[in-house]
Amino acid sequence: MPEQSKPHVAVLGLGRMGTAIAAAFLDAGYPTSVWNRTAGRADALVARGAILASTAAEAVEAGPLVIAPLLDHDAVRQTLGSIERVLPGRTLVNLANSSPEHAGELAERVAGRGADYLDGAMMALPETVATQDGFFLYSGSERAFTSYRRELEVMAPAHYFGTDPGAAEVHDLALLGTGYAALTGFLHAAALLEPVGTAPAEFAPLAARWLRGMADFLPELAREAGSGSYADGVSTVDLNRAGVDSLIRLSRNSGVAADVHEPLKALLDERAADGHGDDSFSSVFELLKAR
Ligand SMILES: NC(=O)c1ccc[n+]([C@@H]2O[C@H](COP(=O)([O-])OP(=O)(O)OC[C@H]3O[C@@H](n4cnc5c(N)ncnc54)[C@H](OP(=O)(O)O)[C@@H]3O)[C@@H](O)[C@H]2O)c1
Repeated sequence: MPEQSKPHVAVLGLGRMGTAIAAAFLDAGYPTSVWNRTAGRADALVARGAILASTAAEAVEAGPLVIAPLLDHDAVRQTLGSIERVLPGRTLVNLANSSPEHAGELAERVAGRGADYLDGAMMALPETVATQDGFFLYSGSERAFTSYRRELEVMAPAHYFGTDPGAAEVHDLALLGTGYAALTGFLHAAALLEPVGTAPAEFAPLAARWLRGMADFLPELAREAGSGSYADGVSTVDLNRAGVDSLIRLSRNSGVAADVHEPLKALLDERAADGHGDDSFSSVFELLKAR
């Protein structure tokens, strides 16, 4: 692809993520305009070839693709107020941490200005931008995702979840929830091991190895939850009730808070009381999903 076919990219917001993103576009040979509310954060990028805009509108006017890795919804809303006039015909990619409701509100506002809106969630750190270690989630305008897929992949591998603008945020929160449960389990375990003389740093590699094995178990869980068929599982509700019960008892006897695991015990107890003790562990899904 010849260099001149690369569209002009505007990056609004040069915080930790915005700076890494602007640098990635410069490294990939894109003409890149940058803007930040507070002056002085663009110096290193300008030295690498970025065009410094004195207003957000000036940056947006430079080209068709606008990437906004701003702090939060309020920052996007305020910045949008100053660029709405120059938005028609362009694409706005909002990468701020947001909510499905806020994504819907912005999608409507941007569409009302004759522009395309993509909502994004960054599953990455500044140092994993433009590597295979991070990935970004998108939802909203399909035309925008299709037209600018190549540019989006400059920042990170891109996953699209459909035209509902809030879908990327829902997936973002779903991934956060998956991580929180695992990490809280690790911290509880570390508290349990302290009295027996195992330091958290000693336990971490073992826990990481265990979690990798757990990750391999996900397709089976997904198959059972997706089909609603729990009869063939090797790890039953009753087996895991006994395991979680032992964990809670050991925690209490050691003076360690057991709060993290009590909700799971309650779910397993409910399944057993409903006559599903021989079903697979994954059948707690039946108690969790929307009814
Ligand atoms: N850092 C991470 O590891 C990470 C990872 C994944 C996702 N995220 C998400 O990515 C987004 C950006 O994070 P970050 O770490 O890059 O944040 P950051 O370093 O704190 O930068 C925030 C940016 O937003 C701008 N900003 C804040 N309020 C504004 C306003 N009212 N009007 C205009 N600009 C405003 C700041 O401008 P000033 O310089 O003028 O303050 C700055 O450019 C957040 O939603 C965050 O949750 C971050």
